Amino acid sequence: MQIGIVGGTGAAGKSLALRLSSLGHPISLGSRAIERALETSADLSGHEGIIGAIGGVTNLEAADCEMVFIATPWEGAQSTARSLAKELSGKIVVSMVNALVKVGSEMQPLFLPRGSVAQSIQAVLPQSYVVSALHHVPAKELGAIGGPVESDILVCSDHFESKKRVMELLDSIPGLVSLDAGSLVNSAAIEAMTAVLINLNIRYKSRTAMRITGLQRN
Ligand SMILES: NC(=O)c1ccc[n+]([C@@H]2O[C@H](COP(=O)([O-])OP(=O)(O)OC[C@H]3O[C@@H](n4cnc5c(N)ncnc54)[C@H](OP(=O)(O)O)[C@@H]3O)[C@@H](O)[C@H]2O)c1
Repeated sequence: MQIGIVGGTGAAGKSLALRLSSLGHPISLGSRAIERALETSADLSGHEGIIGAIGGVTNLEAADCEMVFIATPWEGAQSTARSLAKELSGKIVVSMVNALVKVGSEMQPLFLPRGSVAQSIQAVLPQSYVVSALHHVPAKELGAIGGPVESDILVCSDHFESKKRVMELLDSIPGLVSLDAGSLVNSAAIEAMTAVLINLNIRYKSRTAMRITGLQRN
């Protein structure tokens, strides 16, 4: 499956590109500036373990894939999604965006009028299937494709079939277990939790990830 990443030149987008490419998926890595996309994709393509081709494209071209991840900062996420509404129509759009702000030495969640970034994106993409996922996995672990990603991933959406497809993709990442966290309204809690995890990382000089206990696992 050709996978697009809008905002693919940042830490999150690059790591995701590496990980999904290592599973064999071709990647359209998007940027607002084609030169940045080409430079980044050339860098990533030299990485050991790459299988699927990573091509640098504009965000517009990245949005023309079957499944498209949004990996921009929260400030630009809704306007970027709106500008790509035509291309994203009928597509699965995965938001991994967190609305966070630094207050003193602490990260704090921002509470948006729509509740979450994912809901703000769904509001401007009524013809797309928005799924919220991958908020908590640090880019470093995601991009370390020589090893597994030891984490549960809470996934939510108002579109069950699209959520299932994203969960199948995520479950193909070694170590990672996706969990159905319900409808898109739950993204507010999931996105906000990212601030807590980052603060734990700072406080305990660690890199935390989520594992939910009490579930029956195979
Ligand atoms: N970093 C992580 O560990 C991690 C983990 C999970 C989730 N996330 C989430 O993933 C998202 C991206 O994180 P990141 O660390 O990769 O962020 P980033 O490096 O700050 O930004 C990613 C890319 O977005 C583009 N961009 C920047 N400002 C923009 C704007 N106003 N409008 C549209 N595009 C813009 C830039 O690409 P171009 O200039 O090339 O267009 C940039 O390289 C964030 O929402 C973050 O909360 C991050």
